[in-house]
Amino acid sequence: MDHEPAFFETSPKPGVVGMPLNRVDGRDKVMGKAKYSAEYPLPGLVYGVLKTSAIAKGRVQSIDTSLAMKEPGVLQILTHLNLPKLAKTPNDPEGKKAIGAPMGFLPLTSDVIYYAGQPVALVVADTFERATQAAALIRVNYAAEAPIAAYTDKRAQIFNPEKIQDGKADGYTRRGDARAALAGAPIKMTAVYTHAINHHNPMEPGATTAIWEAPDRVTVYESTQGVTRTQKALSAYLGLPQDQVRVITKFLGGGFGCKGSCWPHTVLTVQAAKMVGRPVKLVLTRPQQFTSMGHREDQTQTLTLGASKEGKLLALIHEKTSTTSPWDNYAEANSKIINLLYECPTFESHYELGRANVMTSTFTRAPGEAPGSFAIESSMDDLAYQLGIDPIEIRLRNYAEKDPSTGQPWSSKSLRQCYARGAELFGWSKRNPKAGVTKNGRLLVGYGMATASYPVHNSQGTARVRLYADGHAVVQAGATDLGTGTYTVMTQVAADSLGLAPDKIRFELGDTKLPTAPNSGGSVAAGTVSSSVYMAAQDVWERLTKMAIKDPKSPLFKAKAEDVAMENGRLQLKKDASKGEDFKALMKRAGIDDIEGSGQGKYGSGYEAGQSAANASDAHKDEAGKHSMHSFGAHFCEVQVDPDLGTVRVTRWVSVHGAGRILNAKTARSQIIGGSIFGIGAALMEATARDPHYARYTNADLGDYHIPVNADIPDMTVEFIDEHDPYINAMGVKGIGEISMVGVSAAVANAVFHATGKRVRDLPITPDKILGTKSA
Ligand code: MOS
Repeated sequence: MDHEPAFFETSPKPGVVGMPLNRVDGRDKVMGKAKYSAEYPLPGLVYGVLKTSAIAKGRVQSIDTSLAMKEPGVLQILTHLNLPKLAKTPNDPEGKKAIGAPMGFLPLTSDVIYYAGQPVALVVADTFERATQAAALIRVNYAAEAPIAAYTDKRAQIFNPEKIQDGKADGYTRRGDARAALAGAPIKMTAVYTHAINHHNPMEPGATTAIWEAPDRVTVYESTQGVTRTQKALSAYLGLPQDQVRVITKFLGGGFGCKGSCWPHTVLTVQAAKMVGRPVKLVLTRPQQFTSMGHREDQTQTLTLGASKEGKLLALIHEKTSTTSPWDNYAEANSKIINLLYECPTFESHYELGRANVMTSTFTRAPGEAPGSFAIESSMDDLAYQLGIDPIEIRLRNYAEKDPSTGQPWSSKSLRQCYARGAELFGWSKRNPKAGVTKNGRLLVGYGMATASYPVHNSQGTARVRLYADGHAVVQAGATDLGTGTYTVMTQVAADSLGLAPDKIRFELGDTKLPTAPNSGGSVAAGTVSSSVYMAAQDVWERLTKMAIKDPKSPLFKAKAEDVAMENGRLQLKKDASKGEDFKALMKRAGIDDIEGSGQGKYGSGYEAGQSAANASDAHKDEAGKHSMHSFGAHFCEVQVDPDLGTVRVTRWVSVHGAGRILNAKTARSQIIGGSIFGIGAALMEATARDPHYARYTNADLGDYHIPVNADIPDMTVEFIDEHDPYINAMGVKGIGEISMVGVSAAVANAVFHATGKRVRDLPITPDKILGTKSA
């Protein structure tokens, strides 16, 4: 594999970064040795089981736990009548802020029922089965009221969550006069897009194991994307200093955003453990998972575009309405991607929320970008057909050379190359431009494509490196590996940064005792943590260099620090490599066994002098913050549609992305494949049905909530464009967790249109919508 020159002078020299290394934790996982949060057999461990509300709105009039308490093995039953008082809860604005949005309500703090599935009791017993049995024996008398199930209910209160003001990012955004531009545009199109409720459904459900080591000290093994965020939330709830709340997450079976916040079941389990004085473990059942950790909200988007007859965009107007819970104002910000994907002189967007009796929605993989790209990328396809222009060509005619939403230049953008390479790999030129005419036997064949983009969000984190004189190193950061390869890629970065082989590195993560790293969310982990690890290694080399130049026995005695560089674990003069020595020799002479360094990596425009790019020039540092930072890509999809059954099968897939430096060719490819399949699920299958009268989910399990399985997915082709971004961080890494699913549902819908001539704007594209007479 080719290695690229370093982005900065001292970025790790070519080595194992980028190589398709197997997962360093792969063996432990297949051997069952990787411990997930529900797999700590602590002495005296007992089991928590939730009893959840059968109604979606009303009050608990009475709750009778007497029968349940008599069951053998039952230790305690928590209800709103006996939940120990917490220092803060999210029920008030101050508590909500301390605990972190969007989880703005804690059950068992009163008798009010806001949503179906809301916990009304937590049973603790000596076995899971006994706790489950006891939960079934709890008698709850409800005073039920008629719930509102969605924003589409006429009774739902519809409101704009932000003050309406110009330039506001979310609730209302305006750039130029889109209404006037639209009025003067030769081509005008308006389309309405709807998106079903989607649930993240990680293989590992929410799980908490809590143990109080002292009356004021607790350790929580938690299935979370961020140990620090969970620690902060719990310390606010419990009124304990952060260092008395330890959160550990060594392995995670997927998160996709639903494990990005601290949810009620975690707090209740911690409280239960305190009450019974024993460690308590609680694992959500699959149906409970649907009402406990958020979802992607049901939503309608209306996108209006104005264009010239040559297909040049003149105006974009985006409106969104979605469902929110009784206490939160969460909405994914779809409009951001619509405002920046194409050059367009005017833009306007607003969104509204409708209150309903549902658990709150939350970040779901590519929050905003995924559904937002469905709207813009379907509409661009519409425009292409209407004007008889190739879908790639219409995108090139509107190519944004700089960020239209800010006017800033891109830090890097390889979208042209993504289109070109994707088209080549896919065979786009063989496409018959006419819709509904390409056939394979009786099946209709369609080609579709769409653009992807995802921002480089600002974040920073710290890492620690301890280098031992015997030639191995322990590298630590309180990051999370969602299952996607953080252990592996950080081992690679540490190896190159230290000039060691990967098997000489032990990378540790997932513990609040380690240096703080951001949530593994918003695709920030790879860029932030890799830069932190690299900076920490730099710190080690600086310390060793200082030792060497003061040591009369060192070949580097009296050298200037700036003239010394590290090469393969050797400190040597930049100008004369023969003058130098191995770090082991230096450390042994000094009589030290190990040396420690720490570093802070910044990611995104929060980048600052000396913190992420040690050797960048001042001019370069000034420049960094003036850039708009995004990754870009393109997806190409072939579908075959059965005209009689309305079934859609994805038969070919090509994704090409420009996402900065790729840390591991193998795990990166897997990330893109996983995200694309996630998107194909949203496009063709995934939908949680909420009963309009009872506001309850009717398919809250993996039998009835359909997701793609292997048989639904063809071999997928994934490539990356070599991209050097000198601004985003020391490692030049943009992150790929979310861009992988942006544009996917549009690529599928566009292929369905090409196959059938039918534009489906209502996700998922199920057979009834292909066969139905309702057509756009
Ligand atoms: Mo991601 S939806 O920020 O975990």
